[in-house]
Amino acid sequence: HAAEKGGYEHFMLKEIHEQPKAVRDTISPRIHENEIDLGEIGMTDEEIKNLRKISIVACGSAYHTGAAGKYVIEELTRIPVETDLASEFRYRNPIYQENSLVIIVSQSGETADSLAALRDAKAHGCKVLSIVNVVGSSIARESDAVLYTWAGPEISVATTKAYSCQLAVFYLLALKFAQIRSAITPDTFQTLLTALKQLPDQIEGLLSQKEKIQFFANHYLATEHIFFMGRGIDYAISMEGSLKLKEISYIHSEAYAAGELKHGTISLMEEGTLVVALATQDALYPKTVSNMIEVKTRGAFVMALSTKKHPDIEKYADYVLYIPETQNLFAGSLAIIPLQLFAYYVSLGRGLDVDKPRNLAKSVTVE
Ligand code: G6P
Repeated sequence: HAAEKGGYEHFMLKEIHEQPKAVRDTISPRIHENEIDLGEIGMTDEEIKNLRKISIVACGSAYHTGAAGKYVIEELTRIPVETDLASEFRYRNPIYQENSLVIIVSQSGETADSLAALRDAKAHGCKVLSIVNVVGSSIARESDAVLYTWAGPEISVATTKAYSCQLAVFYLLALKFAQIRSAITPDTFQTLLTALKQLPDQIEGLLSQKEKIQFFANHYLATEHIFFMGRGIDYAISMEGSLKLKEISYIHSEAYAAGELKHGTISLMEEGTLVVALATQDALYPKTVSNMIEVKTRGAFVMALSTKKHPDIEKYADYVLYIPETQNLFAGSLAIIPLQLFAYYVSLGRGLDVDKPRNLAKSVTVE
């Protein structure tokens, strides 16, 4: 196995480092001279213009990419999007309507609940597009169309590179739909496309900060609870950061929408409680800062993630990590990298089986 890990101690760390290439391999074949080509989805411009609703259905981390995808697609295309857990969607008698699209997201393409949701949607005559990593998997075969993520084989139970590729596919889809529907100007399209193309290099740059994150992680090996908070896309990324941590460190963690703090989670704040605050979204920045102040007042230790646009964050956080400048809609692709590394180093420091955490499976093919 040592050779397969390419010199890394674990598959997870190897796969974290493969993300620049995985994201590049996923986006570049679909970008031709400042245009996006998604011929694979087999939809006419007319069908795309007529879309009235998109339902994103998935489990686990794939669901979290859907949670982020919802913000990006709605913002750019103005098509209403609902994001659902497959195990909820399939049993709730979902409303299928004309001119709607169901998107199933799955790394393995074999997750039982996601496959069942796909079959239900198809049985109701709904068009199903899937975002899948494993070529020829059940979900890929049964969908009307597939947008493959080109992450390559993912071995570590905790997904990293497939997750990042799924996010990238959502950006491509949102941009393409927005362009066809004239929901954004050609200028905005080009600005966003340029930012999208820069993501692989920016992810690479973040990986070089790993010692800093390991140093920080080593201070939290014995902690019992960790909280992640954010608003908008930062909330979607918080959910993934929290899941990653709990999966492989066995530390209880939860993510909450920062605005919900006062509706419950604030009662758990004590002296020294670690709160990871994501504040990458410019329009929401002052709101998230006010939540940081609220938890700090109760004794929390705040580690914040933001951009250099907001250097004043140092006043409100105890420890700050900066992600490179990108478009707000794509910030999640950068913010997740330190969170993956944080989970990895906490697990490593606690001496746990990083790649094969107890009780978890890479692919859940039974109910
Ligand atoms: C399992 C894996 C997760 C994954 C989820 C959905 O829980 O451990 O990493 O996100 O299944 O899997 P899928 O293959 O459908 O993306």
